[in-house]
Amino acid sequence: MPELADGSVQLMVTSPPYPMIAMWDGLFAKADPEIAELWQKLAADCREETVRQIYTAMHDYLAKVWAETYRVLVDGGIACINIGDATRTINGKFQLYPNHSRITEVCEKIGFTTLPYILWKKPTTKPMYKGKGAFLGSGFLPPNAYVTLDCEFILLFRKGKLRKFPPKDALRYESAFTKKQRDEWFSQIWAFKGTRQTVDELERRTAAYPEEIADRLIRMFSVKGETVLDPFLGSGTTTKIAMQNERNSIGYETDPNLLPVITKKTANDYTEQTNVQIIKR
Ligand SMILES: C[S@@+](CC[C@H](N)C(=O)[O-])C[C@H]1O[C@@H](n2cnc3c(N)ncnc32)[C@H](O)[C@@H]1O
Repeated sequence: MPELADGSVQLMVTSPPYPMIAMWDGLFAKADPEIAELWQKLAADCREETVRQIYTAMHDYLAKVWAETYRVLVDGGIACINIGDATRTINGKFQLYPNHSRITEVCEKIGFTTLPYILWKKPTTKPMYKGKGAFLGSGFLPPNAYVTLDCEFILLFRKGKLRKFPPKDALRYESAFTKKQRDEWFSQIWAFKGTRQTVDELERRTAAYPEEIADRLIRMFSVKGETVLDPFLGSGTTTKIAMQNERNSIGYETDPNLLPVITKKTANDYTEQTNVQIIKR
């Protein structure tokens, strides 16, 4: 993110493409030729080792963004990463790819301090049996059924020490949350009953997160007038919610098809108080 100076952003809120989730295979392969080559190698050698190399290479791609985030955050700045683990059958073997633990390890190596995370409980009615989306046949008999992935993670990290503010800082006090909000937002499991999780087809293909996720995180971890970065902007949810909450925002996106989506999503929320930058990669 060469456009951004060191220590220029107070908060990062994002959801990257998820490693080992089939819908993102093409993106990773296009972004990194080594990953494309590894998939070809796997087709030829069917080796477990090659699968592990693909998984690692996908995380190496994301790791560059976590390192840049560390650089551009202010001391005490927070990084919030929404990530789901993946389950997948490759070469006839079903297994979990625990993306949340890989990202945590990478971020700790970069220098981030790991903070208690949030579990976003998603509504689902599909338990898993032998890697398929339903209990079939002997699904009531032990031991071959799998626990369903019905939570995603919102990982929280801090750069350096706690942020310091002048006493009675006006904008900080203006940004205060209520007791009810504090009790709800700072608990570990978030379930949004009755909230629509996606809006239209393009947003579904981008795996947009609910606006409520961005809203809570921005209000929990930044102050009015500060800058929120989303290095994987997708449909523009973070920018829209940052503007609604009187924060500046910077978003990066590689898919040019999403530019009109971002423009449409944020059109009603531009205000003179907030400065917004969308950077095409
Ligand atoms: C899971 S989606 C983000 C969805 C977003 N939170 C929303 O609500 O719409 C991840 C996005 O990251 C983008 N992306 C992937 N690699 C990127 C990169 N290196 N730089 C910027 N954007 C990237 C993809 O095109 C995709 O739109």
